[in-house]
Amino acid sequence: MKFFIDTANLDQIREANDLGILDGVTTNPSLMAKEGIKGEENILKHYIDICNIVDGDVSAEVIATDFAGIIREAENLAALHPQIVVKVPMIKEGVKAIKYLTSQGIKTNCTLVFSAGQAILAAKAGATYVSPFIGRLDDVSTDGVALIGQIAHIYSLYNFETQVLAASIRHSMHIISCAEVGADVVTCPLDPILGLLKHPLTDIGLEKFLADHKKK
Ligand code: G3P
Repeated sequence: MKFFIDTANLDQIREANDLGILDGVTTNPSLMAKEGIKGEENILKHYIDICNIVDGDVSAEVIATDFAGIIREAENLAALHPQIVVKVPMIKEGVKAIKYLTSQGIKTNCTLVFSAGQAILAAKAGATYVSPFIGRLDDVSTDGVALIGQIAHIYSLYNFETQVLAASIRHSMHIISCAEVGADVVTCPLDPILGLLKHPLTDIGLEKFLADHKKK
């Protein structure tokens, strides 16, 4: 299972990358705004900065919602750096755009996916990744992890090559649960990744080993 970090914060991207377990980065317009990145030139430069930190796919989202606009933005983003994956929303024009971009060899990440039906459409269009938002489903009393399992199962039945990228991850257990149901990728903020490190018995055990070592 690949680990992506879901942030536009360069320090956090560096910290996760330094751990040696990072396979890529996902961003979205809200995450860019959170870092105060505004204006087309700054936004494009920020994507390049991210690509220069991480050796892996970097998702950059289009703002347009019409076919021509999505294609224009997508081609512009893809030309920035070979690591860029264009994030396209799960709407009718988005599906058409994913099909076209795939035919042009441009990698895509179909975002804002909340159902198996949407995931089937994304795979049929040839998306590189499909991003079901599991935390937002949990927020409305729907089992987000179950959706990841359902999509992974359907894709395996038909050998769809689209990778299931579990997004909107809120805590470390989401990561473990996604691993159990066959997610290809998890994208999460830094804290849930670091949370995987923690176990009180590790801390107690290490303290004892170091104390015993001092006794000799
Ligand atoms: O990047 C998309 C997704 O991960 C957003 O997460 O926490 O805003 O639901 P969240």
